[in-house]
Amino acid sequence: SITVTPAEAAPKVTNIAHRGASHDAPENTLAAMRLAVKARADLVETDVQRTKDGHLVLVHDTTLARTTDVEQVFPDRAPWKISEFTLAEIKRLDAGSWKDPKYRGERVPTLRELLATLAGTRVGLLLEAKAPELYPGIEHAIAEQLGRASAWRGRVRVQSFNWEWIKTYRGLAPKAVLGVLGTPEVGELAEIARYSNQVNPPHASATAEYIAAVHKHGMEVNVWTVDTPDLMRTLISREVDGIITNRPDVLRAL
Ligand code: G3P
Ligand code: CA
Repeated sequence: SITVTPAEAAPKVTNIAHRGASHDAPENTLAAMRLAVKARADLVETDVQRTKDGHLVLVHDTTLARTTDVEQVFPDRAPWKISEFTLAEIKRLDAGSWKDPKYRGERVPTLRELLATLAGTRVGLLLEAKAPELYPGIEHAIAEQLGRASAWRGRVRVQSFNWEWIKTYRGLAPKAVLGVLGTPEVGELAEIARYSNQVNPPHASATAEYIAAVHKHGMEVNVWTVDTPDLMRTLISREVDGIITNRPDVLRAL
């Protein structure tokens, strides 16, 4: 007879730290990424956009107002769009104090800095192209940077709410692991499966039936943003492939 130990019986769910371990540290900073590594997340999720001078930076909103002190440093530059600031200007900003004074001095990281931070770890990356329609051609910069480090092969996934952009990215990176964010109709899944490997919906739309339908089309389901043990257990029982959480430590403890 075969003996199954509890560890083998437990379903393997990818633990994805949303904007890093952002419940405890300021989102999308290297401090949040290091905390996610410490919590033994499998992947960190982050949002990439482009500066005025063409650098890839990690910020969720399309402006710098909520997560930095840009309003104090550049009071005349409203509405503080990322695309209107150079990297040197953005590097002057404090991206930590809004969360907690102990994080004063955290900077907005570049994608390059995040890759360097993760390089010596086992942690991979779920990179969201945020509002790529605002940054024509950003797919070339992203593909170039992710393609450069061969050590990254197998450790990176790219997702976006802009499904057309994901389709374009597929043309540049035939072997990449790609995801669409949101909840496509079941009738749309066959078309999406032609270019995407994942459908990543908000947890409220991830019913057992919906998850099964995505699986039937050969794609994975990673749900967001799930921070309580009860909801994590429910979604695991529905056979999600991954959980995107602000609290990778809580998911790891399950
Ligand atoms: O990775 C899923 C999630 O990040 C999508 O929503 O607004 O947090 O970027 P948002
Ligand atoms: Ca995101």
